[in-house]
Amino acid sequence: MPAEQIPVESLTEEQAAAELAFLSSEIARNDELYHGHDAPEISDADYDALKRRNDAIEKRFPQLIRADSPSVKVGAAPLATFAPITHSRPMLSLDNTFSDEDVLDFVNSVYRFLGQLPDDSIAFTAEPKIDGLSMSIRYENGRLVNAATRGDGTTGENVTENIRTIKDIPARLPAGVPDVVEVRGEVYMTKSDFLALNEKMAAEGKQTYVNPRNTAAGSLRQLDAKVTASRNLKFFAYAWGEMSDMPADTQMGMVEQFKTWGFPVNPLMKRLSSVEEIIGHYNEIGLERPDLDYEIDGVVYKVDRLDLQARLGFRSRSPRWATAHKFPAEQAFTHVEKIDIQVGRTGALTPVARLTPVTVGGVVVTNATLHNEDYIKGIGNSGERIREDDHDIRIGDTVIVQRAGDVIPQVLDVVMEKRPADTVPYEFPKKCPVCGSHAVRERHEKTGKLDSVTRCTGGFVCRAQAIEHLKHFVSRNAFDIEGLGAKQIDFFFEAEDLALQIRTAPDIFTLKKRQETSALTKLENIEGFGKVSVRKLFDAIDERRNIALHRLIYALGIRHVGETTAKLLARHYGTYDAFESAMKEASGFSGDAWADLNNIEGIGEVVARAMVEFFKEPRNVAVIDRLLAEVSPQEAEQVAASNSPVAGKTVVFTGSLEKFTRDEAKERAEGLGAKVAGSVSKKTDYVVAGPGAGSKLDKATELGVQVMTEDEWLSFIGA
Ligand code: IVH
Repeated sequence: MPAEQIPVESLTEEQAAAELAFLSSEIARNDELYHGHDAPEISDADYDALKRRNDAIEKRFPQLIRADSPSVKVGAAPLATFAPITHSRPMLSLDNTFSDEDVLDFVNSVYRFLGQLPDDSIAFTAEPKIDGLSMSIRYENGRLVNAATRGDGTTGENVTENIRTIKDIPARLPAGVPDVVEVRGEVYMTKSDFLALNEKMAAEGKQTYVNPRNTAAGSLRQLDAKVTASRNLKFFAYAWGEMSDMPADTQMGMVEQFKTWGFPVNPLMKRLSSVEEIIGHYNEIGLERPDLDYEIDGVVYKVDRLDLQARLGFRSRSPRWATAHKFPAEQAFTHVEKIDIQVGRTGALTPVARLTPVTVGGVVVTNATLHNEDYIKGIGNSGERIREDDHDIRIGDTVIVQRAGDVIPQVLDVVMEKRPADTVPYEFPKKCPVCGSHAVRERHEKTGKLDSVTRCTGGFVCRAQAIEHLKHFVSRNAFDIEGLGAKQIDFFFEAEDLALQIRTAPDIFTLKKRQETSALTKLENIEGFGKVSVRKLFDAIDERRNIALHRLIYALGIRHVGETTAKLLARHYGTYDAFESAMKEASGFSGDAWADLNNIEGIGEVVARAMVEFFKEPRNVAVIDRLLAEVSPQEAEQVAASNSPVAGKTVVFTGSLEKFTRDEAKERAEGLGAKVAGSVSKKTDYVVAGPGAGSKLDKATELGVQVMTEDEWLSFIGA
């Protein structure tokens, strides 16, 4: 790229064409480095800057948009050539904790979930979190039979041949091990091997790698296992998948077994029993971190006893019995060049600081969130001061930026000694910068407090909200339409031609018909699409005409309704029609439908209100009606084995339980497909009452609902 960028407005057509050609190949090259080789050469921020520059030039010179333009490519090129392997047990991820307080919350939640234990103290293991790649290695009758990467947690890549080249990983296990053994752990490259490899690459005039993790990943995903062999990868065992027999009944015991079987295990792993000890060990590992020859990014805590792990179970993709305590974020100094406002799906105006590029922990940062108006002023969400002397953030300031993991970088503080004399306080816009509608801070109904978020009141009128809404609609946990990502939504939204335009969700599903019946622009004639990708796109859209109910509810983009809430609603109402009529019946925020909605465990009043409000807006209902002419939501599946006697039934627990905590009882019941409600109504099927049960038990008797003791319940569910 030219060192000094010519502003897009001043480019000649010739210069623009040349730069688009350069950008197209440069972006493609970086895509390939990132996806194909795990060896990005530039930071995400720089990559985004290339894409933005490309978009800006294309916007000014649409006639120059290239066939291979990165902005209109549909889908990504196929990547690897490794066969998929479905994991016998999913490979999970870990929740993150960032402060001592979070750790205390984690430990408390474990105690709360398990309730009273006879010896009343729960031991935890604490070990470094290795920054490598997780791997599952399967042995049958003591022989290594296959090895797979984590992939999406359910299916990974078969990298058996490459794994066989790693000296740390035994090809055979000693006699007497269980028939089926799946050892899981982290493949990594030492810091010293990484540096030596990079020196060698540089000496040979080859491209160097960014960090040990990417290099380890790249070294493993080699079709030629000899390359992997030359990279001296290493391994730490810390977990397991399928085991035909359990050789130990604690986390520590299992890891000790792995060691006797010949696997390297981390020497810093310890078994501890109080929050103080755990955090003490975290601090010690933190001190040792610079001297370790491998990268770590935190400390993992796990409940030691495996029977307790089993009781604690999982919450969506991560176990309740473990957490990763991450090391603090990395910081750097830079300047605020500009403050822009971004408008989100729900109209929230988010100020973003445009920074002089700076490297923070090996990644170039050019943007940082400033959260909201108060944050810029130095005021926290509860009105507290967040910076010394209450100082604000201004354009021209020297600031401290912080990055933690994948979290968006933040501007933490201002170096006041460096503030230039001519800076002025930032004035937060009173109007939406996109549509010009009033932007307001809502007042909390009960507390009278001002909300920290400033919102555009434009709703449907606001292009930014409409576009973000569509992007949410097609996103991974919503309709997940392959080939229709954020880029393509921008393209279709901006299209002037009615045969191409997508402005609301139903338009996605009428696109094909409009294309077929219109004499106007054909998508396949637009550079970058082509016949094959258009057919694929239409197929992908058609595939989603049948959609899971919870995905549809989530896709609607109702405020406060995330994936979990959407699932609860789908499970509760079963069909879309039942859901919509209930929301409409609840429009007065009273009556049975309203009570029923509020009764769903996990749905609070704020969420309930937001949903009812959403359905009171005729424009929302009109869009949904058009959408339902195109797509058919499926009935929500019962989660459970339908042979369970409680599947589909509504249960209320009341009084004190002796064998389980309330959370645990709920978890079990839900696992069997029951709905657990907070209060007793005509719809309740069973009330499980422990000692001290009061009004709920009375109500159950009054309504003739079947009441059971805890023991009766346990034998009923076959526990
Ligand atoms: S335990 C069910 N222990 O961190 C929990 N994971 O964020 C299984 N990782 O995918 C993971 N060091 O790749 C565990 N000592 C350690 C780890 C560790 C690194 C990675 C692992 C996992 C990711 C989760």
